[in-house]
Amino acid sequence: MSYRIVEERLGATFECADDDVLLRAGLRASLPLAYECNAGGCGSCKFELLEGVVHDLWPTAPGLSPRDRGRGRRLACQSQPLSDCRIKMVGRGEATPAPAPARHAANLIGIEDLTHDMREFRFQTRTPANFLPGQYALVSLGEGAPRAYSMSNVGNDMGEWHFIIRRVPGGAVSSSLFRLALGTQVALDGPYGNAFLRPEVERSVICIAGGSGLSPMIGIARGLDRATLPPERTVDFFYGGRRAEDICGEALLRDLPRLGRQVRFHPIVSNDSVSWSGRVGMVHELVADLPAEAFTQTEFYLAGPPPMAEAVVSLLTRERAVPADRIHYDRFF
Ligand SMILES: Cc1cc2nc3c(=O)[nH]c(=O)nc-3n(C[C@H](O)[C@H](O)[C@H](O)COP(=O)(O)OP(=O)(O)OC[C@H]3O[C@@H](n4cnc5c(N)ncnc54)[C@H](O)[C@@H]3O)c2cc1C
Ligand code: FES
Repeated sequence: MSYRIVEERLGATFECADDDVLLRAGLRASLPLAYECNAGGCGSCKFELLEGVVHDLWPTAPGLSPRDRGRGRRLACQSQPLSDCRIKMVGRGEATPAPAPARHAANLIGIEDLTHDMREFRFQTRTPANFLPGQYALVSLGEGAPRAYSMSNVGNDMGEWHFIIRRVPGGAVSSSLFRLALGTQVALDGPYGNAFLRPEVERSVICIAGGSGLSPMIGIARGLDRATLPPERTVDFFYGGRRAEDICGEALLRDLPRLGRQVRFHPIVSNDSVSWSGRVGMVHELVADLPAEAFTQTEFYLAGPPPMAEAVVSLLTRERAVPADRIHYDRFF
């Protein structure tokens, strides 16, 4: 069964299945709704419910402040309709060339360990994997809320969706994923996300990843490897981890047929140890060391935990005057 949703800001109407949420149903209808994480954390998908009834899947989601709640605001990524509704999104979304998201069954067809707690998972759907480099999908293992994971590969006709996932100690979904046997079926919903590769922009590229933010940045690098790059365009890849044993990704970059020898890899760890001879500190500190000209004609892509992403964005916009439209990022709430 589905309900009819009228969105007042765009003056648009769309159908939302009773097991779907307002945000994703609107995006499936190719509406440019405001959102970022799809996980209740960022607050970008706030809306006002003007008429109708919705079920709030996560009443304490951190994306809404007490003030928002007091004003009756809700999160479209956490709202399932219980009737036809009239809503008004608070923020303005952007139209993107990204494919509209859809729900698929996917089989686990491959796994590869990258570190003690990071693994690349390969899933396959029956239809082509239609997404842009750097986007993410929602993965569900039966009951419970889905989790967002970013693709580390590029769209393809074989239906392959690859994700580099960190096992979070005590994490409900990431820990369960590490126990899955090959051949297990999961529910996959995507693609989502606006931090995708803009291959048409002929600037040098800087990718900045923290922790599991590696996955979409490898996806961006793989996408760049397929694009036609002017010879003078450079690619720098910054990666921050906690300890020496967390650092990985350089081998994946070196495997790229075209960019492999050209890309510059800059690792940094926050905790010093005898097994580490490189830089110690936070990844934005390493980026801050770049010469001034590195910030003037460069496209920035970044992903990782919110504090890391916010430190990098603050450095770029406030201290290095990089225009916001040259910075593309996902915060992993
Ligand atoms: C856009 C995006 C892309 C991401 N990409 C990656 C990636 O490529 N690789 C990677 O390893 N991680 C990625 N993450 C993080 C990932 O989605 C999970 O947060 C992480 O794996 C921990 O999940 P868990 O179930 O193991 O831990 P848990 O501690 O069980 O869950 C943590 C997360 O679950 C969600 N959550 C918790 N409670 C509820 C609830 N009641 N209802 C709804 N949601 C709830 C919240 O988002 C929270 O952050 C990404 C996150 C986002 C937002
Ligand atoms: S998109 Fe809904 S809270 Fe982030």
